[in-house]
Amino acid sequence: MPGSRVEVERLTHAFDGNVVLRDVSFSIEPGELVALTGPSGSGKTTLLQLLGGLDRPTAGRIMVDGIPVHALRHATRYRREVVGFVFQLHHLLPALTAQENVQLPMVAAHVPRRERDLRAHELLDEVDLSGRARSLPSSLSGGERQRVAIARALAGQPRLILADEPTGSLDAAATERIWQLLAAVRERHGSTILVASHDASLLRHVDRSLAIRGGAVCEQPASNLAPPPPPATGPDHHDRAPAEL
Ligand SMILES: Nc1ncnc2c1ncn2[C@@H]1O[C@H](COP(=O)(O)OP(=O)(O)OP(=O)(O)O)[C@@H](O)[C@H]1O
Ligand SMILES: [Mg+2]
Repeated sequence: MPGSRVEVERLTHAFDGNVVLRDVSFSIEPGELVALTGPSGSGKTTLLQLLGGLDRPTAGRIMVDGIPVHALRHATRYRREVVGFVFQLHHLLPALTAQENVQLPMVAAHVPRRERDLRAHELLDEVDLSGRARSLPSSLSGGERQRVAIARALAGQPRLILADEPTGSLDAAATERIWQLLAAVRERHGSTILVASHDASLLRHVDRSLAIRGGAVCEQPASNLAPPPPPATGPDHHDRAPAEL
């Protein structure tokens, strides 16, 4: 299934008169893997929530595969059938095993149990966690939980994956693994993926980068992409602050 085409036209969003996004226009082609950067409070989460139909914009249009997301009164079906969300704090249910968490969207979509079991196994295998199907989130590492959250986001076979700082609490190695996983998902499924992150290592994996500054969204020039990887060892390696966007 090809990824979604996203078209945003003259989008404005304000909370109680405080304008966060001002007259923003951009588009994302099917199957593109795009970074969303910008300082804290610039509106990354706001934009992802608008694109995901979790909130409605103050003004402007959001078209995803021709669906007018800005105008949807009940976006439940759009969210279930088109979008997969990955949140910073994974939002796994603590009382459910990894496999049960992955199955949740399929329960909501009334997928029969046998098919759910099979798909959940495949998805956990895809994120390299087939051995942890029966583990509760509390017994998984942060990176493993995020991978379960990605498997869960994939359960509805989304055409559009929206990830909001999916590596917020992870170290460099676990972060790199998440980026590689998202790149592999794009390769395998052709999904369109938009990832908000402060972590500059993401830029080595994306096609494009969009930056939010002062309510505007601008294309980051290609020359700013792909900073060189940090040296594995070196005299000052441990003193250096992680690269931030
Ligand atoms: N529900 C809300 N009600 C009022 N103001 C809000 C709401 N959600 C976000 N805001 C405000 O909108 C602005 C953008 O917030 P947003 O969470 O989108 O930023 P962000 O770029 O995701 O930041 P971070 O990098 O810290 O996650 C902030 O000033 C925030 O206080
Ligand atoms: Mg945010």
